[in-house]
This record gives sequence, C-alpha cells and structure tokens, in this order.
Amino acid sequence: MKEVKIIGITGGSGSGKSTIVRKIGEVCSDFVFIPQDNYYRSATFISNENITAFNFDHPDAFDMELLYEHLKALKEGKSIEMPQYDFVHHRRKDETVNVQPKPLVIIEGLMVLYDKQVRDLLDLKLYVDTPDDIRFIRRLKRDIAERGRTVDSVCNQYLEVVRPGHFNFIEPTKVFADLIIPEGGYNENALSVLIPFVKELSR
Ligand code: CTP
Repeated sequence: MKEVKIIGITGGSGSGKSTIVRKIGEVCSDFVFIPQDNYYRSATFISNENITAFNFDHPDAFDMELLYEHLKALKEGKSIEMPQYDFVHHRRKDETVNVQPKPLVIIEGLMVLYDKQVRDLLDLKLYVDTPDDIRFIRRLKRDIAERGRTVDSVCNQYLEVVRPGHFNFIEPTKVFADLIIPEGGYNENALSVLIPFVKELSR
C-alpha cells in the first residue's frame, strides 16, 4: 500500500465538521473515517440531570493515547479495533469495529488539533470556522433530536462547559490549521477546492 495520509478536521461543536466528511463521502468513499467522539472516555454516572458533572469539552474527556496509537497503527498500514460511543448513555459500547487500513484516513472531532502527538501525525489540518450563534442553534436541534436531551439541559451544558471549553481548548487550535473553512459543509467553493485534493490522496 502507498504511504497513508491522514486529514484532520476540527472546529467547535455544531460547526459542520461531520457535514464536510459527509460531502467528501458523497464523491469519494474510499477512506477510513475516525470520529474522535468514539474515543470519549466512559462517564457512566452522568445523566441529563447532571450533564455538566463530566466535562465533555475538555481534552481529558478523550482517550488521546488510544487515539494516537490507533492513528499511528493506521499510518503504519495496520488494522485497529475502533471503539464505539453511546451518546445517550455517555459510555463506550462493549463492541468495537474492525477497521482495515486504507491510503486515506479522515479524523473528525473537537480536539483533533489539541494534542501535539496526534497533530504531528496529520498530513492536512482543517479548521471549520462557523459563528457561535449558528453553532449553538445546530447543537440545540441535534442534541434534542438525536441525543435524548432537553432544551434546559442543552442550554445549561452550553453555558457551563461547552462555551468555555470552546474558547479555552478548541478555538486556540485554529493556529495549527493549514486551511480554515468558514461556514462548514455548505461552503461549496471551499469544498470544490478541497474535494479533488482529497480524491487524489485516496487513490
Ligand atoms: N457531548 C455530550 N455528551 C456526551 C459526549 C459529548 O453532550 N456524552 C458533547 C460535547 O459537549 C461536545 C460535543 O458532544 O461539545 C461534540 O460533538 P460535536 O462536535 O458537537 O458533534 P459533531 O457532529 O462531531 O460535529 P459537527 O456538529 O461540527 O458536525
């Protein structure tokens, strides 16, 4: 297999990271996709009522070491057992997914550029830059529809941990990006520049 390339896509919660990955996937599906969310540590004592008792918007919420080991293995052409995450019960699922290496790996998540070890493995670093109010609205809708949350729980969590976490740990990593994509996955001009490059890497 030719040299494995890794693209890292980061940006705040609700910025449109996963839309970019979906749009790439519509025209080029031949890559390994690693959502950083799968590397969240389990927080079994958390429920909707005490959602801020675990800070999901802090780098320590992620098992960065395992993420690093897995990206390194893929880079070396080895397969991994990727963990799976249950957002409703805030825990790692028992089952894992066997992921075989491919020439292109895309990792997407909040803290993809935070950890130096992980960052140094990336061949292209993208930061999705979307205004805070847009991100909050997207998050509110999504967390209610898909993650079993209430309006109150989403608002409290946003004010207490998501917002400070964004300004302390995520936004500062923008300086490490090779490219900054305003407005996320609906920025057709940015996608039309990015996608041919990604296709080339996946060949
Ligand atoms: N989170 C949560 N409950 C958990 C685990 C994580 O509420 N059990 C939240 C964290 O507060 C964090 C967010 O999930 O802010 C991370 O997901 P996010 O980046 O919003 O989702 P993506 O779909 O990956 O990104 P995007 O909206 O940019 O596509």
